[in-house]
Amino acid sequence: MAILVTGGAGYIGSHTVVELQNAGHDVVVMDNLANSSEKSLKRVEALTGKKVPFYEADIRDREALEKIFTNEKIDSVIHFAGLKAVGESVQKPWEYYDNNITGTLTLVDVMRKHGCKNIIFSSSATVYGNPAFIPITEECPKGQCTNPYGWTKSMLEQILSDIQKADPEWNVVLLRYFNPIGAHKSGTIGENPNGIPNNLMPYITQVAVGKLPKLNVFGNDYDTPDGTGVRDYIHVVDLAVGHVKALAKLAPGSGLNIYNLGTGVGYSVLDIVKNFEEATGVKIPYEIKERRAGDIATCYSKADKAEKELGWKAVNGIREMCEDSWRWQSQNPNGYED
Ligand code: NAD
Ligand code: WQD
Repeated sequence: MAILVTGGAGYIGSHTVVELQNAGHDVVVMDNLANSSEKSLKRVEALTGKKVPFYEADIRDREALEKIFTNEKIDSVIHFAGLKAVGESVQKPWEYYDNNITGTLTLVDVMRKHGCKNIIFSSSATVYGNPAFIPITEECPKGQCTNPYGWTKSMLEQILSDIQKADPEWNVVLLRYFNPIGAHKSGTIGENPNGIPNNLMPYITQVAVGKLPKLNVFGNDYDTPDGTGVRDYIHVVDLAVGHVKALAKLAPGSGLNIYNLGTGVGYSVLDIVKNFEEATGVKIPYEIKERRAGDIATCYSKADKAEKELGWKAVNGIREMCEDSWRWQSQNPNGYED
């Protein structure tokens, strides 16, 4: 039996396929390549020495999904496919709701018709909104999202929970990622943003490689130790391993399980700049700018539940995250376009 990885050509998906194959799982990938390149999967194959069966298809395409579930023996799905750019989601809400919500509804419908009722879903710390308390446990109430992207995650959590409640044959794992950064140690796969990056680490690495002149730090008047925003950065390989561990919660009768995947440690924007400079020896010029709309001051997890129930804990520290982000960027200044 195989695991279908939707969005498997993307940043987190490609790293997860490596860990799944290395752990001996059979994998099938589907991706419409809206935000990725098939080259990532070729590089995954080079890393694992195994073929990655790939379908270029959209999760909203029912016929394509039917074909995959008919051709392949799929017993569970790790569902990464989705659009994820926060700012773009404010400009194009219909596209985000259609892609992420219609897509997931179609996927889940085809799954159940084929008797496959096991799903791990990529959720986000964004569902906590401005968190009611810090560090954030899974008991922290969900909050108000500040953008349509965040709402798609919050709504899909609700939809998948309701489906599981109505039909207890479903096993659903909601993984709430904090801020994934870093790349595979080989430097051959990594994050490949389109255009100017929105997220901090890809922006920093593009400054370091000379593609952007300087970092804009969005606000230094937050109620944090140095005034800049604090986040829980997690190495993407740790995150990928978290998915392999979460497969245990797709065993019959597991029901609904929710986990934070973070490190439990918060770093400010200036901490990241300093750690990046120390890890790589490359200076990052920066300028303090206005706060970015929708940002919160502080967001970091308590990740004890995943450790206790899944035996998972992030092992890479901030130095490895910076070194590995830089190895990927410096070896592939144009991502997969080289
Ligand atoms: P990514 O854009 O690199 O990967 C998503 C993949 O899904 C891409 O390869 C894209 O081509 C594909 N895709 C998008 N829409 C599709 C569709 N309709 N049909 C088929 N494929 C489609 O992003 P990522 O950082 O790897 O994120 C993976 C998942 O994790 C996403 O659901 C994202 O929302 C979620 N997430 C990401 C972060 C983050 O900071 N990177 C944080 C929390 C949650
Ligand atoms: C981190 C910190 C910025 C860029 C986003 C999504 C969230 C999740 C992860 C998917 C903040 C500051 C950033 C820059 C800066 N994605 N910053 N200059 O906002 O925590 O989370 O990605 O689910 O939903 O909202 O991550 O990397 O954008 O920002 O000063 O050029 O860096 O203000 O304090 P964020 P980020």
